[in-house]
Amino acid sequence: MELYIDTANIDEIRNAADLGVLDGVTTNPSLIAREGVDFHSRMAEICDIVSGPVSAEVVSVEHDGMISEADELLKIASNIVIKLPCTVDGLKACKTLSDRGVKVNMTLCFQPLQAMMVAKAGAFLVSPFLGRIDDIGGDGMELIQQIRTIYDNYGYTTKILSASIRHPLHLVQCALVGSDVATVPYKVISQMMKHPLTDSGLAAFLADWNK
Ligand code: G3P
Repeated sequence: MELYIDTANIDEIRNAADLGVLDGVTTNPSLIAREGVDFHSRMAEICDIVSGPVSAEVVSVEHDGMISEADELLKIASNIVIKLPCTVDGLKACKTLSDRGVKVNMTLCFQPLQAMMVAKAGAFLVSPFLGRIDDIGGDGMELIQQIRTIYDNYGYTTKILSASIRHPLHLVQCALVGSDVATVPYKVISQMMKHPLTDSGLAAFLADWNK
């Protein structure tokens, strides 16, 4: 499973990239606003650190505005992926951009038919938000499974990018159901190599060696 980091914080991106297994980055308007920085400059900084796909989200809600914003964002770096919402205008903009060969990440996906439609429109990535479904008492993993089945049934090549990951168990479940990618907050990435028995086992090995 590919691993992206879900942040616009440069220190977190550098630390994750230093692990040597980071495949890409996702941002959204809330994550950019949290940093209090210029959007385009920050995207350029991120693309200097990570060579894989870097998602930059438009804030227009209608087709023509989305395309104009996308055209500006695409000037930043060759690895920019345009992030659009799973709305009717977002779907049309996805088709327009995908037909031009632009990589698109369709975000705010909460039901399987949105995922099917954006796959038909040529999306490179679809982002189901599993944590936010869990937050309202739903089953986020069921959505990931449904999308996996639909994509496999018809051979859609859009990659499932599981988003709104809240804890390591989400990642295990994503890997088990065949999510292509997971985008993960730094806090969860930093938990991925941790186990108390690894720490205590290593301490015991070293203590024995030193005797
Ligand atoms: O970037 C999209 C998604 O991962 C947001 O997650 O935690 O705000 O629901 P969250």
